[in-house]
Amino acid sequence: MSSTKPVSRVTVTTLRKMKREGEKIVMLTAYDASFGKVLDAQGVDVILVGDSLGMVIQGHETTVPVTVDDMAYHTRAVSRVCQRALVIGDLPFMSYTSPDMALRNSARLMQESGAHMVKLEGGAPQVATVAQLAHHGVPVCAHLGLQPQSVYKLGGYRVQGRDEAVARQMIADAKALQEAGADLLVLECVPVTLAEQITQELEIPTIGIGAGRACDGQVLVLHDMLGVSPRAPKFSKDFIGAGSTIPQAVAAYVQSVKAGTFPEDQHCFF
Ligand code: KIV
Repeated sequence: MSSTKPVSRVTVTTLRKMKREGEKIVMLTAYDASFGKVLDAQGVDVILVGDSLGMVIQGHETTVPVTVDDMAYHTRAVSRVCQRALVIGDLPFMSYTSPDMALRNSARLMQESGAHMVKLEGGAPQVATVAQLAHHGVPVCAHLGLQPQSVYKLGGYRVQGRDEAVARQMIADAKALQEAGADLLVLECVPVTLAEQITQELEIPTIGIGAGRACDGQVLVLHDMLGVSPRAPKFSKDFIGAGSTIPQAVAAYVQSVKAGTFPEDQHCFF
């Protein structure tokens, strides 16, 4: 009689162990069941149902128009088919302006849509919200550096933390978010030395996107790494080489992140 071993789910404990043992964490976005299944089968550790879907799925210029209903729908489609990966549901713009609102919307993404963690953008102003979520058993991925939901306030998509005062604030924010109970931290468009310092000073894993190789893991937007986006950012790489299939491209990304060969210097900011 053949017995297939059940697949064990990646959890917050797995992620902390990977950081301690120096195993790189592979994260990638997905927005539907078909791609969710491919990523899960190819060994992507964490699947982010990102609000980047506003741009790559819905055709908006930014992530600002994305709603909680949109996130609930897409998170449900992905989590339904993932057996191994930890699934993160992104809290969209204006869905966490108070700790109670964040709690209600996180409950939707977890109870209705099967997310195992939620993600929110912001530093010091989000510390009370992260504490409230953690207190109620909601795992949280925080997000510092370039925060796309604030693009209109920032005046564009720019590297964050080159200025010394901003870098100091980012380090303090990262520690405060960890202290409040965050389980994971995305660092987007951050100079490599700053991302390295934050990674060394935190116990929770950091996941870089345009933040260099020293982060504990990497994330990309799926459509960017499949060469589908009209204008992929500098920090991304097209993994779909001539003749390769989508599962092969995802496998190449997993292998490159695990081996520490992605990102290369050309994908980093100094
Ligand atoms: O929404 C998203 O896809 C993200 C990643 C770019 C980190 O936040």
